[in-house]
Amino acid sequence: MNKVYIDKLSGHVNKEVQINGWLYNSRSSGKIAFLMVRDGSGIIQGVVSKSDVSEEVFTSIGDLTQESSLSIIGKIVEDSRSESGYEMHVSDIIIHQIADEYPISLKEHGTSFLMDNRHLWVRSKKQNAILRIRHTIIKACRDFLDNNDFILVDTPIFTPTSCEGTSNLFETDYFGRVAYLAQSGQLYSEATAVSLGRVYCFGPTFRAEKSKTRRHLTEFWMVEPEVAYADLNDNMELAERFVAYIVERVLEIRKEELKIIDRDTSKLENVVPPFPRISYTDAVEKLNSSGHKFEWGDDFGGEDETVLAELFDKPVLVHRYPAAIKAFYMKRDENDEKLALGVDMLAPEGYGEIIGGGQREDDYDTILKRLKEHKLSEKDFKWYLDLRRYGSVPHSGFGMGIERAVAWICGLKHIRETIPFPRTTHRLEP
Ligand code: 4AD
Ligand code: MG
Repeated sequence: MNKVYIDKLSGHVNKEVQINGWLYNSRSSGKIAFLMVRDGSGIIQGVVSKSDVSEEVFTSIGDLTQESSLSIIGKIVEDSRSESGYEMHVSDIIIHQIADEYPISLKEHGTSFLMDNRHLWVRSKKQNAILRIRHTIIKACRDFLDNNDFILVDTPIFTPTSCEGTSNLFETDYFGRVAYLAQSGQLYSEATAVSLGRVYCFGPTFRAEKSKTRRHLTEFWMVEPEVAYADLNDNMELAERFVAYIVERVLEIRKEELKIIDRDTSKLENVVPPFPRISYTDAVEKLNSSGHKFEWGDDFGGEDETVLAELFDKPVLVHRYPAAIKAFYMKRDENDEKLALGVDMLAPEGYGEIIGGGQREDDYDTILKRLKEHKLSEKDFKWYLDLRRYGSVPHSGFGMGIERAVAWICGLKHIRETIPFPRTTHRLEP
């Protein structure tokens, strides 16, 4: 029998096929039963007439519970009213397992219950749609960079030093030494950018975030392009082209899924370059003049970012932050030593920072001084200092948190639904 996925039925009309899946829902009225079967790619209704199947098969339908695994065999017919566009006239059913009473019914459940049952929750329609969109976002990141001649260079997860400050490091024993889980692959990408010109790393990153917010995970995925001979402006241009491409691809490929999760896409359609650019100093002024009190020198919190981003109808690039609140590796603005050539991209609709990056300090003596100021060990960073000794050039890059991007593009209130199995301060299971 021809095994077919529900989203690939168009060439099989009026033909007998087999669909392998799980029971989503069912109803029966004596002589006819309707089975809603999902197979991961979609949901189809199987119509079972008592006269079309053996008595044994028809009786067995009564045993089927939600999420029981089964194969339905029968003829595909067009049905414009249904979600898949087709239904099946079932001639046979193979039952693989009768599921125990399924904890997640089709009615509403509380978040903590759903999170405890995340391993089952991922099967639900909305979660399935979000995971598909996440997949497309990741693929779009790769496609954009690959099509623009970036080389993927993986960076290590066990690292001897910090990249983004020492306050949120995960420490682990490494054969009697201390190792830290990578907060970012950036420092290593700076090395490979000198070998290959344009590179990116893409992997899981870890931060022992003590703050419990709807934007923070302890384990998240980051894509980080790094470009030799690129300055801050080149970096901002790359970031906006990158994000615009991702949004465009999702709008094009995931229309159905965006509908399933009720995403109002009108604001996403507006995400085309150029994005507004504003300096941190001007941003602070704008915040204060719009009645939101904020002190120059402080780092933006979630609320500040939301207010700021609301002043624009596209993602906004905020550049030239106070050096004191940024990482050691950031190059200073030659016109004002207090400023770092960093840039953050803030997403609209209250999603805040989705990208952080900037131009890197490329002078040996300066970066050595910065390491000391940040109380980082010169010895641990010897290899990194070498990059400033052998063919140092201006270079820039950024990192985009995949889950932040998914939350924004999907319009999700909380980051926990953007990753299959979220890790937060209070959650290690399932
Ligand atoms: O701004 P961050 O800390 O920048 C870096 O790590 C740089 N080394 C990147 C680079 O220049 N190559 O983090 C970058 C992005 C943030 O903008 C945010 O999207 C995401 O990573 N991010 C988090 N996402 C979820 N949970 C957290 N705890 C996150 N911390 C950062
Ligand atoms: Mg940041």
